[in-house]
Amino acid sequence: MAEILIEKLEKTYPSGFKAVHGIDLKIKDGEFMVFVGPSGCAKSTVLRMIAGLEEITGGTISIGGRVVNNLDPKDRKIAMVFQNYALYPHMTVYENMAFGLKLAKLPKKEIAQRVKAAAAKLEIEHLLDRKPKDMSGGQRQRVAVGRAIVRKPDVFLFDEPLSNLDAKLRISMRARLVQLHRELKKEGQTATMVYVTHDQVEAMTMGDRITVLKDGVILQIDTPLNLYNSPLNKFVAGFIGSPSMNFQDALLEQSEDNFTVTISGHKFALPHAKSEKIRKHLDIAGKGSLTSANVALGIRPDHIEEKPNNTNKEGFEGEITLIEKMGNESYCYFKVAGNEYVARINGEASAHLQIGDKQKFYIRMDKCHIFDAETERNISL
Ligand SMILES: Nc1ncnc2c1ncn2[C@@H]1O[C@H](COP(=O)(O)OP(=O)(O)OP(=O)(O)O)[C@@H](O)[C@H]1O
Ligand SMILES: [Mg+2]
Repeated sequence: MAEILIEKLEKTYPSGFKAVHGIDLKIKDGEFMVFVGPSGCAKSTVLRMIAGLEEITGGTISIGGRVVNNLDPKDRKIAMVFQNYALYPHMTVYENMAFGLKLAKLPKKEIAQRVKAAAAKLEIEHLLDRKPKDMSGGQRQRVAVGRAIVRKPDVFLFDEPLSNLDAKLRISMRARLVQLHRELKKEGQTATMVYVTHDQVEAMTMGDRITVLKDGVILQIDTPLNLYNSPLNKFVAGFIGSPSMNFQDALLEQSEDNFTVTISGHKFALPHAKSEKIRKHLDIAGKGSLTSANVALGIRPDHIEEKPNNTNKEGFEGEITLIEKMGNESYCYFKVAGNEYVARINGEASAHLQIGDKQKFYIRMDKCHIFDAETERNISL
C-alpha cells in the first residue's frame, strides 16, 4: 500500500518566505496524480517534501499509513526523476542504473536482472555501455526513468521530467510514461506516481487526477474531464484548456424565472437549468433576493459557433481580427464592442472567413460559466 496522505502541510523557507499554506491531499494507492500550476506555485516544494529532500515546517505527510516527516529519503521507498536527469557523467548507463541497487547491497545477479528488465521496457538495451554525454536528451531521460524503475519503489516522483525534450519527443515520452505506469501496476507493483508539470496539456493527458496549485494553495483536485467541465473558480477555468476560456465582465440580472447576462452590450438569456444553479449559489451566499450583480462570464472557444441551432439561439455580430488556421480547425478572434473573443471553428466552416469581416457568432449559454466578480468562484455549477 502506498497511499500518500498530506495533512495541513506548510512550508516556510529559512528566508522567511512561506511557500505552502496548509495543503490537504490524498493520493490514492497506485494513482497517477499530476501537480499543475504556474511557475512558483510550490509544485516542486511539495514534491520535495514528499521525497524528504525538503524539511516540513507544519503538518504531516504519510506514505502507506506511516508518517514520514522525519524519515530519511532512502527509507521512504520512493524514487525521483528530475528535469535535468542528474545522471553520473563518469558512469555508463548500466552503472548509472545499477548504482542505487549496489548501495542497497543487492546480489549482482539480481542487479543485472533488474537493469536488463528495465532497459528492455524502456528500449535502451543497446545503450547500456554508453556514457551520458554520448546520448541524446531523450535517451538520457529514459536512463533516468530506468534508474528509478530498477529500485521498484512504492512511489515515483517526477519533477518536470520532459521539459528539456523537444515537442515531438515530449509527446511520445508522455505516452510512454503512462504506459509504463499501467505495465508496472499489471506486474503487481504499487507504482503510485506524482508528476509535476506546468504544462496543462501534459496534465490533462497523463493524470488519473490533477491537483491545481496557485501560490502554495490547492484550488481544485479532480479528474481531467471534471476540471475541464466544472472548474470551481476562474483561475482553474482559465488555466485548463487551449485556447483559454473567454472571460468577459458581465451584468447578471434576474428576469422572471431565469437570469440574463449582458456582455459587450448584448443581453443573453440563461437556460432554466443554469439559472437554477445560480439561484442555489446565491441562496447559499445569502443573496437570494438579488436582482443584479457584477460577474464574469466564461465561455470556451468551442462553445462560440458561427451557425445558429437549438442550443445557441442568441448571437451577436463581431468583427474578425485574426484567424489561426490549424487545418482541421481554426481559432477565430473577433471583437464585439471593443471586447475580444476567440472561437474554435471547424476548418471547412472557417474557409470563407476573412480578417475584417463582420460575422454573427452564437453562444452556447447552456455551457457558459458565471464567476462571482469578487471571489472568482464559479456560481453556475
Ligand atoms: N530555497 C528557497 N528559499 C526561499 N524561497 C524558495 C526556495 N525554494 C523555492 N522558493 C520559493 O518558493 C516558491 C515555490 O517554489 P517552487 O520551486 O516549489 O515552485 P514551482 O511551482 O516548482 O515553480 P516552477 O514551475 O518554476 O518550477 C517560489 O516562490 C520560490 O521562489
Ligand atoms: Mg518546480
